[in-house]
Amino acid sequence: MSERKPAKLKLGVIVGSDRKESINRKLAQALVKLGNDAFDATLIQIGDLPMYNQDNENPVPAPVARFKAEVEASDALLFVTPEHNRSIPALLKNAIDWGTRPWGKSSWPGKPTAIIGTSGGAISSAIAQQHLRAVLSGLPDLPVMSGEAYILFKPELIDAAHDVTDASVKTFLKAFIDKFAGFAAKLAAK
Ligand code: FNR
Repeated sequence: MSERKPAKLKLGVIVGSDRKESINRKLAQALVKLGNDAFDATLIQIGDLPMYNQDNENPVPAPVARFKAEVEASDALLFVTPEHNRSIPALLKNAIDWGTRPWGKSSWPGKPTAIIGTSGGAISSAIAQQHLRAVLSGLPDLPVMSGEAYILFKPELIDAAHDVTDASVKTFLKAFIDKFAGFAAKLAAK
């Protein structure tokens, strides 16, 4: 008799870049592939969200309603962020802000979350990730996994099939997504 496998968690993946050739989207796709045993992943689009304006909250614009519903339908969230001028891109901050609104209707509570990111620069999005951690720490009941994951991107690091070509980076990313699967499963079970 085969053992019944636990159901996969629904993972919402939020990439802080809408660029066609985004290296952070490539990293996200590689992580989704490496975490396929534990997660059913959806890339939650943020490129169509209008710039936040409190005048437009009631009702929220259709892309915002779609975005909030997708966040709320997720069991866990993975943020993959570029670094723009030593912080998170405005695109990502805008999505986070919309997710908290209208007041009393935040989409974020109760979602186990992980942060990762990449750039071609020497510190590989480290400051952006720290800023993101600080922003998320202000959202009630959003448990963020500890640890650091700063990925230095090189051309060809991730191939067209979303596989990581560097063995040590692949091992690191697999350990990261496995650790997150354990973290998310523990919290989702509560
Ligand atoms: C950057 N880039 C960048 N890189 C970095 O390591 N630290 C930084 O502070 C910045 N700042 C920055 C500002 C702006 C406005 C742009 C457009 C770019 C480079 C950045 O890491 C690079 O463009 C990545 O390719 C962005 O990620 P995506 O969009 O490819 O996922």
